[in-house]
Amino acid sequence: MVCPKDNHLLSPKLAAPFSIGSVPIRNRVILAPMSGVTDLPFRQLALRYGAGLVVTEMVASRELVQDTAESWARLKSAGLRPHMVQLAGREAHWMAEAAKIAADNGADIIDINMGCPAKKVIGGYSGSALMRDPDHALTLIEATVRAVNIPVTLKMRLGWDENSINAPDIARRAEEAGIQLVTIHGRTRMQFYEGRADWDAIRAVRDVVSIPLVANGDVETAEDAEEILRRSGADAVMIGRGCQGRPWHAGVIAGHREPNHQEIVEIAIEHYRMMLEFYGEAVGVRHARKHLAWYLDRYAPATTGADKAKIMTSKESGEVAASFHAALQAGADLAHCVQEAA
Ligand SMILES: Cc1cc2nc3c(=O)[nH]c(=O)nc-3n(C[C@H](O)[C@H](O)[C@H](O)COP(=O)(O)O)c2cc1C
Repeated sequence: MVCPKDNHLLSPKLAAPFSIGSVPIRNRVILAPMSGVTDLPFRQLALRYGAGLVVTEMVASRELVQDTAESWARLKSAGLRPHMVQLAGREAHWMAEAAKIAADNGADIIDINMGCPAKKVIGGYSGSALMRDPDHALTLIEATVRAVNIPVTLKMRLGWDENSINAPDIARRAEEAGIQLVTIHGRTRMQFYEGRADWDAIRAVRDVVSIPLVANGDVETAEDAEEILRRSGADAVMIGRGCQGRPWHAGVIAGHREPNHQEIVEIAIEHYRMMLEFYGEAVGVRHARKHLAWYLDRYAPATTGADKAKIMTSKESGEVAASFHAALQAGADLAHCVQEAA
């Protein structure tokens, strides 16, 4: 197991601990919840390499109460702490019941998803659609806070569209209702993932809440992380897509050493094996493909179309692992040569 230890403290601010309610968080760089990405293996790696906090993929509250296998898989923590579970839903009753289940099964923090732009999040209109009806959103928040004795947090966008920027209003009311941290993705729902996140606009939330504020959207580098904190006045930063194909990246932004290319080969292969173990062979091979593609895009961009196709289509995990390893190793060798020549 590779585990870079030196901490070169890029930013004392990002490396500083803080807390959510009474739960201590070791630094201010949080891995964003991403459905289909931040499953247990990804979160385990992110925490191992230094992320301050990781969040589960969103768990549909009603489905969890109704006991579906997928919800339980998303809820798993294998003992990793702090365990932050994100719940989505549109009815206070299901949110409260699901929060109790999550808390009874080891959650340290519950996060409410009010940011997902998908038209229909499983179980009805929820996610950022809730921002169109703040009174209703508040019933859900109040019920969730009442249901558990652990901190409840809220993740949302700036508003539904540019004419209804209501994150500050909802955040203020949420704080009054007992929410202990709020995360803002600096886009409206109607922007989906278009354009650039507006880091300055997040400051309007800072101005009205005193609970910890997390800023999110388009952060890739340590400089971005410092800048989003400066412009928004937030206490911590959350990174999503910038961690795809590099689960260690949140830790690196918090000040941990970046793994070298040879270490990356080992981590990527270990990630693949962890996924096969978590999902089982057949499902694991399919779920892992997007991760393998991200690793190759980042660290072995010269991989031929034919080699890539073999990795992406083979159903045989041993064959995939061997081809994937060979492609990444070629990428590492190439990077080494370029370094030597420089
Ligand atoms: C593939 C994918 C899945 C996502 N799933 C979730 C989710 O389950 N819950 C949530 O609150 N946000 C979800 N998001 C939004 C991210 O948490 C984050 O707010 C967004 O990607 C902006 O941050 P970034 O620019 O650092 O990626 C998802 C984003 C992506 C790209």
